[in-house]
Formats: sequence, C-alpha cells, structure tokens
Amino acid sequence: MEPQYDFGMVGIGVMGSNLLLNMADHGFGVIGYDTNPKKAKDLEEAAKPGTTVKGTVKLEEMMQGLKRPRKIMMLVPAGKPVDDVIENLLPYLEKDDIVIDGGNSYFKDTLRRVNYLQEKGFHFFGMGVSGGQMGARLGPSMMPGGDQGAYQYLKPILEAVAAKADGVPCVAYMGKGAAGHYVKMVHNGIEYAMLQIISEVYDLLRRGASFSNEELHTTFAGWNEGRLKSYLIEITAVVFKTLDSEDGGYLVDKILDQAGSKGTGKWTSQEAMELPVSIPTIDMAVAMRELSVYKELRVAASKLYQPTINKIKEGHQQLLSQLEGTLFFSFLIAYAQGLSMLAKASAELDMQIPLPDVVNVWKSGCIIRSTMLVNFSSVFKRNNHQPNILLDDEIATLIKPTYQSVKNVIALAMQAGIPVPSIMSALSYFEAFCTDRLPVNLIQAQRDYFGAHTYQRIDKPGVFHTEWHVNQ
Ligand code: 6PG
Repeated sequence: MEPQYDFGMVGIGVMGSNLLLNMADHGFGVIGYDTNPKKAKDLEEAAKPGTTVKGTVKLEEMMQGLKRPRKIMMLVPAGKPVDDVIENLLPYLEKDDIVIDGGNSYFKDTLRRVNYLQEKGFHFFGMGVSGGQMGARLGPSMMPGGDQGAYQYLKPILEAVAAKADGVPCVAYMGKGAAGHYVKMVHNGIEYAMLQIISEVYDLLRRGASFSNEELHTTFAGWNEGRLKSYLIEITAVVFKTLDSEDGGYLVDKILDQAGSKGTGKWTSQEAMELPVSIPTIDMAVAMRELSVYKELRVAASKLYQPTINKIKEGHQQLLSQLEGTLFFSFLIAYAQGLSMLAKASAELDMQIPLPDVVNVWKSGCIIRSTMLVNFSSVFKRNNHQPNILLDDEIATLIKPTYQSVKNVIALAMQAGIPVPSIMSALSYFEAFCTDRLPVNLIQAQRDYFGAHTYQRIDKPGVFHTEWHVNQ
C-alpha cells in the first residue's frame, strides 16, 4: 500500500483530534493513533466529507501509512508519557523522520530527547502549541524548535493550519534544540503575570469599588475595544456575564479562590534565576498562585487579623481611566520581562531565538495575544537584538503617560487594604530598571564587611577589599 498520509498523531484526545481535523480541512491526509478504539472511531466520525482522516489502534498501521520523511506528533501529558511514546516509535522510525512533542514539556527534557534521537538519525522537535482546544481546531499559535533543515518539511503543514495575524501564519521556527518549548514556557510565564494583573484589577473594582458583575462585564468589554484589546481581557468580560446553570446566579462568585498550576510558570521563574535575568512580575504571579492554595491558613489568618477593606472613594470615571493605564503599563512590563528573558536565554543557551518571529507568532491564536504586540514588532524591526523593549524610544512614549496612573492606583489599593503585588512589582521593576544608581553599593559594602567578597569603585578600576571600621 502506497503511503497516503502527510501527518500522524499519537494521542487523539480533543487537542490531538482537533489539530488533525484542522490539517485535513487544509487538504492534508492525516492519521491518528490511540490505544482507545473509541477515540479512533470518534476522529473518523468528526471528519468532514471529502477529507482524508484515519483513526487507528495499530501504531504499525500509522507508521506504514505515512509519507517519508514521516512527521509524527505526540500530544500526551508531559514527562514519562513522552519518553514512553518515543520508545514505542523507535522500532518503526527511519532516517530523517521527524517526531514532534506538542505538549508543555520541560525544555531540558526536550533537549535530552533532541540529542537522543539525533544520535539515531532522527529529528525531534519540541513545539509549544497555544490556544486550547478551539485554537487547535481553528488555528493555534505554534512555537516549534529543533533542526532548522528538517523544519522545511513541517513548514507547509504548520503554516496552513496556524492562526493568521493580518494574513501572516502564527508559526515560525523558534530556534535550535529546545527553543520551541523554551519560548512556550516564557509565553506561559507572561500568561501567569497577565492573569494575576487582571485579578488584582478585578479585586480593586469588586471589593474596593463595589462594582457588580454587570459593571465589570461592561468595563472589561469596553477595555477590549481599545489599546488593551487582547484574548485575556475579552474572556474576562465573558466570565463576568456567565451564569450558574444550577441557580442562575453569577458563576464567578461561586468559584473557590484557589488556583491550580501545571508548572510552566514556576519553570519560567526558576529558569530566569538560572540565567540570571530579573522577571519579578512573573515571579510574583507564580507566588500568588501558590499562596492561593493555602486557603485554610488564609482563613485562619483572616480571623486573627480581621483586615478591613476601606471603600475606594475615587470617582468611577477617574478610577477606570487609571486602571486602564495600569493594565497597559503592567501588561507591557510583563511582556518586557518575558522578552528580555528570551533575549538573554537565546545567547546564553545558544538557541538563536528570533525575537521578531516570537512576537509575530504570539499575535494571534495564543493565550497572550494582544494588540500591544504590534508595538513590539516595530521595536524588533529597529533592533532585532533589543535586550529590553523598555529601552526603545517608541515604547517609552507609550509607557510614560501611564506611569502616574499606576502610582495612583497603588496608593488607592494601599488605602483600601487590597493587595496588588504584581502591579507593585511591575512599577518597582520599571523604577529600578530606569535608575542609574541602585542602592546595591551598600550591599557590596556589607558583603565585603562580613565575607571579604570585594567590591568595585566608581572612581577607579580594580577590585577592592576594606577592613571596615568606624572612623573616629
Ligand atoms: C496555552 C496555555 C496552555 C495551558 C497552560 C496553563 O498556551 O494554550 O498556556 O498551555 O493553559 O498549561 O497551565 P497552568 O495549569 O499552569 O495554568
């Protein structure tokens, strides 16, 4: 039998099936493998007439039916399942075949797998896929990394099915080795920060200014018409308007205040410290999600300290205008931190990550898509190695007018007794980044005092140590 399929998938849950069906809609023959016969059957039944879609429970059938070099993607849980699938595929692989891991794998695992398969003559791609189930069906944002030569075989399929931003596919080669999963990890770190920033603004409006869910819906929907236009602001507006099917009340009010996490945010913070590079707003978002989990302790502490919330007296129009500026400022800082991490990691870990392409790939289909990314494209057009977008003149003209709003909002939050740690961290990061004199001269003196760690001087070159004492 002549091989007739262009693309194979291991793991045809909703994500895997949707991506295959998307490919089939674009004229590619696809085959999905799963040990569960129902999933194989469901895949075939979901296919549109005239498309080539096959589901199978026989791995051998899938491998024999694929055109060479074979392109096989897996969408299975990160960790051991990925290694297990690789071992199962190995007996069937031929030289130049391409195996893609489309899950949220830890990039160091991906690098190990790239090397393991390369030694055997096969290609391994770690590919971040963002946009959830609907994204997979209608157009995801994809971040593949691996062997650049082999990417030519994936490019036509991935570009056809990816989300489009002004007609440009939201997929591009993200660099060598594990660059694809590294970029997706940082995408998720920014996602954590944006979610936390939005939740703080929600807290200010809900507990601080007594906004109803209707008013919150209108506010966020309105913001989504302007410069904050983004997927996360858009879905937040919808969340406020969604009713509980059981009693018809607002669903958001019934949800427990404990947030889960699968690890990508934590990895972003850990890896930033490894580099090192400073991403405090992302770190704070990870920390706050972790704090949310300690519900029982928080309840006990609230009984002990009985904090009061003082109502925010600011007029609504003024408050909303300042919060809009605060969201713009804080989102921009979150992106700046993530992109500065990628700039540093690209060089440090020899991944050759093309920052202009990263920004383009994030413009549609992914969770952190927003109109702000258009501004970042211009930054990297002017300097494609910009180490921090805050150094760009155009970004400076955008961020300066919002600075005072952030300070006002933080002052209001403090008076109200509402925690806004990620917004505060964004402001402090900005202020620290924009000063030519940080107070760490004192830290250097202290380190030299207790540990003879030495210091440098501003008035002459060299390394110095002092026997510190009080001069009489
Ligand atoms: C995406 C999302 C997706 C998922 C993350 C979030 O880009 O589509 O980032 O990958 O929502 O895994 O994970 P947490 O459970 O850590 O929030």
